[in-house]
Amino acid sequence: MRTLREISALRETLGDARRRGERIALVPTMGNLHDGHLALVAAARERADVVIATIFVNPLQFGAGEDLEAYPRTLEEDQARLEAAGCDLLFAPDTTTLYPRGLEAQTRIVVPEVSEGLCGASRPGHFDGVSTVVGMIFNLVQPDLACFGEKDYQQLAVIRRMVADLHFPIEIVGVPIVRAEDGLALSSRNGYLSPEQRAIAPRLYATLCELREGLEAGSAPSALLEQGRTRLEEAGFEPDYLELRAADLGPATTATREAVLLAAARLGTTRLIDNLTLTLPR
Ligand code: PAF
Repeated sequence: MRTLREISALRETLGDARRRGERIALVPTMGNLHDGHLALVAAARERADVVIATIFVNPLQFGAGEDLEAYPRTLEEDQARLEAAGCDLLFAPDTTTLYPRGLEAQTRIVVPEVSEGLCGASRPGHFDGVSTVVGMIFNLVQPDLACFGEKDYQQLAVIRRMVADLHFPIEIVGVPIVRAEDGLALSSRNGYLSPEQRAIAPRLYATLCELREGLEAGSAPSALLEQGRTRLEEAGFEPDYLELRAADLGPATTATREAVLLAAARLGTTRLIDNLTLTLPR
């Protein structure tokens, strides 16, 4: 696997692949790779001739007081894991390569509506940072398809909307959440949890499962969501949101069948997110 740092080398290498008629799959990441990322690489590998991953801890998507400085940078381990997973190329630019005029002066992509509410409400500007960097990487790599994890459900919806609105000729593949044996969704931020917090963390998924069971049995959402919030608080979480939405993130109404439960909650200073799709009864 080759690691490329510069845009010129990236364009040259991918230009050669494209001239050979090869299908290119992209896996954008911020590094500190775990099995969830490797599932993205496997999904990409199944669908393309050339798999390219990117590692870039994107300052534009971190708010003031968030974990930009602390975010784990583990390039050597990541390179070894990507290579073992069958990745062909890694693009790992530094910040001045992607944002040469600085963050303030950077042209941005804003995806209205779907970026608002949920994580968008508690992390203002976060999805503008995500859509800007992903749009930029799409433009640099020009892949045939790109793989994203379904754990970041709202992020995936934002990217799908951006691709539709800006007419990027790129297929977006959503890859199911990879969970630890106790149900905790894998995330680079799980590494921040103390052993005590790590023991509590699977209660987030367990609560979503309990809510799904109740909703599928026909219980009223508002009372169940209130109970779910209380259960999370009792377990030691500080819930940020716990919501039932239509699968496209529109409001869940009595006509909604395909739906999603979404949660974000803090354990100490670590913010965890998770979601579960479900079919509501008629
Ligand atoms: O999901 C992530 O790791 C990041 O938000 C992404 C999509 C790589 C953009 O920086």
